[in-house]
Order: sequence, then C-alpha cells, then structure tokens
Amino acid sequence: APPSVALNNGLQMPLLGLGTYKLRGPEEVLAAVDAALAAGYRAFDSAAVYRNEADLGRALKQLLPKYGLTRKDVFITSKLGPKDQGEKAMEGALHSLSQLDLNYIDLYLIHWPGTQGLPVADHRNPGNRAQSWATLEELHGQGKLKALGVSNYTPAHMRELMSSCRVPPAVLQVEFHPRLCQAELRSVCDESGVCFQAYSSLGKGELLSDPLILEVAERYKRTPAQVLLRWAVQQGIPVLPKSSNPERIEENSRIFDFELSRTDMERLSSLDCGQKFCWDPSQVA
Ligand code: A2P
Repeated sequence: APPSVALNNGLQMPLLGLGTYKLRGPEEVLAAVDAALAAGYRAFDSAAVYRNEADLGRALKQLLPKYGLTRKDVFITSKLGPKDQGEKAMEGALHSLSQLDLNYIDLYLIHWPGTQGLPVADHRNPGNRAQSWATLEELHGQGKLKALGVSNYTPAHMRELMSSCRVPPAVLQVEFHPRLCQAELRSVCDESGVCFQAYSSLGKGELLSDPLILEVAERYKRTPAQVLLRWAVQQGIPVLPKSSNPERIEENSRIFDFELSRTDMERLSSLDCGQKFCWDPSQVA
C-alpha cells in the first residue's frame, strides 16, 4: 500500500497524488497516468474546470489492468466547478461522475468558495456554498462521493462550514509551500479533524530556483522538487505535484526514501512570507 493518511471518515488517502491541472487531451493524460502508475502513484486529482475528467476516466480504465490494479486500488479526487455552485451543484457533481464514468468518486471538493458570475463580495455566496454542501452530503449518503471536502477556503469559510454541516469536511486542499505555510488554516484543520492537503507545492515551478531550496537539494543529492515535496509529506501533508513529463512524474515520486533534518525543515519553513502563486480567496464573501 502507498504511504497514506487516514481521513476523519476512516478512508485512507495516499500522501502522493498526481495533479492534473492543465493536462488535457487523451494522449497527454494517458501518458501522464501511465508514468504515474508505473512510479507508484495511486491518487489522481482532477476537477470539472480542468476539463480532463473524461480523459482521466478513460486512461484509468485502459491502464489499471496493465498494473494489475482495479478501481479500489486508486483514489480519485474531483471538484465542483464555481459555475455549478448553488442550485446547479447536483447537475455538476453528477456530470463529474458521468465524465469520469465511475460509480463513485473517492473525494469530491467544492473547488472555490465563490460562485462564477457573482461578484466576489456578493452576499449570495454563503447561501450557494451551503446549498452545494447539502447536495454533496446527499450524494455522500448515496455512496457516490466517499469523502467530501473543500478547496481554497479561508479560515472564515471553514468556520462557517464547520458550524453548519451535517457531514464534516474530510479534506481542505489549498496552496502550500515554504513561502506559504498557512499557519491559521493548519490549526483550524488540526482542531476540527480535517486533513490539510497541499497544492502547488512547487509554487508553480517558481520555487525550484530558490537559493535555499537549491542549497538543501545539493546537500541531500536530491532535486529541488523532491526537497519541496519531502518538506510537505514529512509534516504528514499530502501533495499533488502536477507534471506532464514522465521523468519529472517519476522524480516527484521519490520522496519517501530520504529525510530532511529538523534544522533544514525549520530553515525551509522560515521562508514563509505569505506569497501566493495561485488565486487568493480572501475577498470572497
Ligand atoms: P511540467 O508539467 O512541464 O513538468 P505546481 O504543482 O507547484 O503547480 O507546479 C507545477 C509546475 O512545475 C508545472 O509547470 C510542471 O511542469 C513543473 N514541474 C513539476 N515537477 C517538476 C520537477 N520535478 N522539476 C521541474 N519542474 C517540475
């Protein structure tokens, strides 16, 4: 079994998953999934907005037998798009299931606290989030979504959800790397039993040339990407590196056979400066 964490509903989620943002088209997705399965990845992170759910579903169907695997051996995540937030949530989630051509999705997240087409500060945003969550709870009850979660939520969005949900979120997926250590969100998650999951651990590739990361990588005879991913998983935080390149997909999987010293972990964490390479949800009402 791949290294994994236990979610608050008992499900095991692998610490390493393939991010599929910007993977597009049957050939590119097939090649990436093939490289990932060969390297030992057992989790795949998609989303309605990535428009690759159908390609991912087909790639898995085609490739699982090649590795002696079945559906239950892989952990599939997808996400409800901002255009389906609110009254279209049922349609959106069922569309993900049919695009992936799966009977169930392991983890389904609300991708973004806002609603497409509404101003960020619009007072209807909270109501739409609540309606989406209630819809996901219903599908969870039917066994179609095994675990539920959210992405890009701020501490305020998390507290709102925790105080109103029937099924508590299992996962919060946000941008996380040494320049964005997310202390407040991490303590909200720790206090409420939510698994904190990282995206863009490489800072969209921008952190690969950071002088401190390069220096640490050289000393451990590892690559900068491996150091950044190791820094997260060594804290028990699941990662989702995205790559379309088979060599880099393999490189990003070799993070469980070395350990960063406590000093180096702390030196990396001291880069924390709140820098976001992705979107900032802090203005979403
Ligand atoms: P590519 O798909 O060409 O490999 P993040 O996950 O932080 O958003 O970063 C993803 C970006 O980092 C992508 O542009 C990806 O490009 C690049 N990338 C992923 N893994 C590596 C690696 N091991 N070395 C260098 N670049 C990488």
